[in-house]
Amino acid sequence: MTVFLNGKLLPAEQASVSVLDRGFIFGDGVYELVPVYSRVPFRLDEHLARLERSLGETKIRNPYSRAQWRSHLYRLVDAQAFDDQGVYFQVTRGVAKRDHAFPKDGEPTVFMMSNPLVNPPQAQVEKGASAVSAQDNRWLRCDIKSISLIGNCLLRQLSAEAGAAETILIRDGKLTEASASNVFIVKRGVIQSPPKTNLILPGITYDVVVELARANALPLEFRDVSEAELRAADEVWVTSSSKEILAIVELDGKRIGDARPGPVFRRMYELYQEFKQKVMRAGKREAVSA
Ligand SMILES: Cc1ncc(COP(=O)(O)O)c(C=O)c1O
Repeated sequence: MTVFLNGKLLPAEQASVSVLDRGFIFGDGVYELVPVYSRVPFRLDEHLARLERSLGETKIRNPYSRAQWRSHLYRLVDAQAFDDQGVYFQVTRGVAKRDHAFPKDGEPTVFMMSNPLVNPPQAQVEKGASAVSAQDNRWLRCDIKSISLIGNCLLRQLSAEAGAAETILIRDGKLTEASASNVFIVKRGVIQSPPKTNLILPGITYDVVVELARANALPLEFRDVSEAELRAADEVWVTSSSKEILAIVELDGKRIGDARPGPVFRRMYELYQEFKQKVMRAGKREAVSA
């Protein structure tokens, strides 16, 4: 496996980071995951914009221009033997003597790796998946894509132990998101999702769903969704770069709607796949030098 570390491509076994790296000591860093289909990154500029925002909010110096990020990512993608990839990249505040306060002249550590992209199997897309719910006890800056994911890991483990695909989160009686995805509901044909606030990650897939709904005149509302509305929804979907759009048909052992992926899900899934194919066929990579 070829990975990227601080400007260089090298075999994973030769890539090493200091034990004093603040990513290791404090979880002091941010990350992204970009899906790549047939070697074409999907929504790369949007992912890079979110990375820039996460770096800005955490006051970690961005070591690269947008063009340099693209170039490094393309090199990593081209170094892999497989076409559909999930490119993970993270930036930490770098190596320093352990002290909570930021180091004065820290050099950020940049690591990237690419794994085969695993989307939900077709059988799961067609049958739908189950989820459990839990209280959202994470910090109040869920809009930052931080590598400090212990809250999300603990919550995801609840569904893993229940044999379910996701943990859907409730804060103060309202739906926020899931442990590693955003959540939409459908009621009487209207797609609904919590608005983007500090309580959820602004998902790139969430934005694609919103754009596709608007472009195809599907009714959509951003509004607070109560726990009761979530449980009484006709459809529930989770969205993320790796899950794409997945219907949740059972929550905490109880059926959602008629326990099958609903008509609005099926339409949105089709629109999403068409859109993805269009991007792949165009085969366009944004210019590295832009
Ligand atoms: C907590 C959380 N919310 C939402 C998402 C979905 O974001 P995206 O669609 O950009 O993958 C993720 C993705 O990893 C996530 O971890």
